[in-house]
Amino acid sequence: MEQAKIKELVQKMTLEEKASLCSGRDFWHTDSVDRLGIPSMMMSDGPHGLRKQEDEGDHLGINDSIKAVCFPAGCAMAASFDRDLLTRLGDVLGNECQAEDLGVVLGPAMNIKRSPLCGRNFEYYSEDPYLSAELATAYINGVQKHNVGTSPKHFLANNQECRRMTCSSEVDERTLREIYLASFEGMVKNAKPWTIMCSYNRINGTYASENKLYLTDILRGEWGFDGFVVSDWGAVNRADKAVESGMDLEMPSSNGAGTREILKAIEAGTLKEEAVDAACENILSIVFRFAENREANAVFDRKKDHEISGEMAKECIVLLKNEEILPLSEDKNVAFIGQFAESPRFQGGGSSHINSERITSAMDCAAGLRVTYAQGYDAKTDTMTPEMKAEAVEAAKNADVAVLFVGLPDAYESEGYDRSHMRMPACQNELIEAVAEVQPNVVVVLHNGAPVEMPWIDKVKGLLECYLGGDAVGRAQVDILFGRTNPSGRLPETFPIQMEDNPSYPFYASDEDIVEYREGVFVGYRSYETRKTKVLFPFGYGLSYTKFAYSNLTVDKTSMKDNEQVVVSVDVENVGGREGKEVVQLYVAPPKGRVIRPVRELRGFTKISLQPGEKKTVTFTLGKRAFAYWNTEIHDWHVEDGTYQIQVGTSAHDIVLETGVTVECSTLVKRIHHLNSTLGDLMRDPTKTEAVEMLKKQLAEGSLQMEEKEDSDAAKEAMNQEMMMAMMNYMPIRAMKSFGGLSEEKLQGMLDQINNA
Ligand code: BGC
Repeated sequence: MEQAKIKELVQKMTLEEKASLCSGRDFWHTDSVDRLGIPSMMMSDGPHGLRKQEDEGDHLGINDSIKAVCFPAGCAMAASFDRDLLTRLGDVLGNECQAEDLGVVLGPAMNIKRSPLCGRNFEYYSEDPYLSAELATAYINGVQKHNVGTSPKHFLANNQECRRMTCSSEVDERTLREIYLASFEGMVKNAKPWTIMCSYNRINGTYASENKLYLTDILRGEWGFDGFVVSDWGAVNRADKAVESGMDLEMPSSNGAGTREILKAIEAGTLKEEAVDAACENILSIVFRFAENREANAVFDRKKDHEISGEMAKECIVLLKNEEILPLSEDKNVAFIGQFAESPRFQGGGSSHINSERITSAMDCAAGLRVTYAQGYDAKTDTMTPEMKAEAVEAAKNADVAVLFVGLPDAYESEGYDRSHMRMPACQNELIEAVAEVQPNVVVVLHNGAPVEMPWIDKVKGLLECYLGGDAVGRAQVDILFGRTNPSGRLPETFPIQMEDNPSYPFYASDEDIVEYREGVFVGYRSYETRKTKVLFPFGYGLSYTKFAYSNLTVDKTSMKDNEQVVVSVDVENVGGREGKEVVQLYVAPPKGRVIRPVRELRGFTKISLQPGEKKTVTFTLGKRAFAYWNTEIHDWHVEDGTYQIQVGTSAHDIVLETGVTVECSTLVKRIHHLNSTLGDLMRDPTKTEAVEMLKKQLAEGSLQMEEKEDSDAAKEAMNQEMMMAMMNYMPIRAMKSFGGLSEEKLQGMLDQINNA
């Protein structure tokens, strides 16, 4: 429906109807106004399958939902580093939504993985905002092409489950812009999501649902968002304040409480009716967009989608270690050990929990292979009996290879609470050690939503990270173990050796409402690489059954202004014996300037498929943002002059090729200097060249005067002109009263002249 018509419709609504539309009708539906032909619209979780609840609703995955298909969770999908795969997932979900009459699927979940401990990491993509935004964009494009909306969540700085409904994320402006907002920014600008879900928490003291700065000024004002903002389920503190700040729809229904708050505030004059009108217009434009574009013939083919889920899982599994053990040959005797071989953990707990129609385990796919099975442990009780251990050791002894299917049980990772450590269950660690003692050929297959510590890593020859791979993950596992598929996943996050190494560790999720993001922009690899912390596996890491060689890194210019673009290209060749996929990663390393920055940041990636011997040229185009940081003086992106290294690598740690590009800032940052500005700042200010020249002259004269006064040879030797200038760099201008022989009036006069220049 055209915007003008929507406006007309809203004008016909009574104030009560409008206030009521800003709150859900029930747990999953928007309100309807029958007399005006305004339909209701249903929403559903998301993000990796449909959790459509037809009866009693809840937001924690407790009550039943329809039978559906569980695709690989966000953690796994992100490991594909494959935009096309994310679009395909969106495409399948968009179709499922049309078939099920769902107007919005609640996702993608795209909060930054600040700490491995966040209970919901399994739903999220990455510790890197660029990767997160790119993948979310691809997913949204897939869903929305079916005229079904998405609801990227949870906006903003919702990086822990502990006290998620009350805590305040205390984050500085630059960190918000470069990490936490950046994850959403590219997605909002490029994918135009129909809705966005604001989070439960507060940001610097103000509830996300009442935060005008983020919901209106930045989201709508700067980024051009034009859909509706929906609250996370129960995230509204005060409905009137929320609507005034730019939150449009409270979900679920608060049984009239929200409506009453809005009406009361209008009556009291603290909320303008226009704010309610705007919220209604935002909601209705989406409701009608869905209602008017139904795909009447859409069918939810669960069997087919389950197959697709298995295909997708193959793209997500990451080969982390391979000492000439994988792929397994089909004539080997292989012991599958661990309950997850028979009953895989393929999803996490909470609102994203899918009621899978069918589950395909590795054991289901073992027909025709020489595979035996031993349970090893009980994931529900998190125990291993002596009998289980003995049976597993026996099976391992009798086989050529032992494959251990292990990982985190359901209770370890869920919405609503965080992990308190990064360890695997003790019984599973014990099982791995026991098997490794009797069998030198051990492969570990991990099921987990986030990193775990691996005390046994040196005792195993192979390691596959499957994350939570969806309800057909068993098919993908067997195909990769036996080499029918070549693994191509890469880690979308760093695996630290121990929890204490994580940069947020000292500040993360204490049982306090104030959560300080003291590590700042140094999240994930931005910290590990800058501090040179040894890690288990770096961001972007992953092996293949073939090998790739990089050559010929070129740039189409070696110097540029920051408002220009540089095209980077690199050749990648498959130098191994079989077809495989490589994730080409581009990082930018800033020069050592004034501003403290991570040593490198991901600015481009692409996944390519290569036949043996095949070579492809990959190109990336980099603009200002690839070089910029958020400058809190000008409250904008800014590029420092200097030579930036364009680095191509196989992980954030393994840079294979690099070349420099000199970038010059094209905008002048106008600074006001005062008596307490440093001399160095003033001298380097490019906007003040002429005036500064004059001052420099005066200062040189002043410092010479000083030298002349200190006329002993020893003094001259102790302090030459260069040293003098270096020391003066950090002196406030006012120091020239004492050391430069200039009066305050004279200095102030010069400063006025400089500032007005
Ligand atoms: C979760 C959201 C979810 C909503 C509805 C909330 O608890 O945080 O991600 O979409 O419930 O189930």
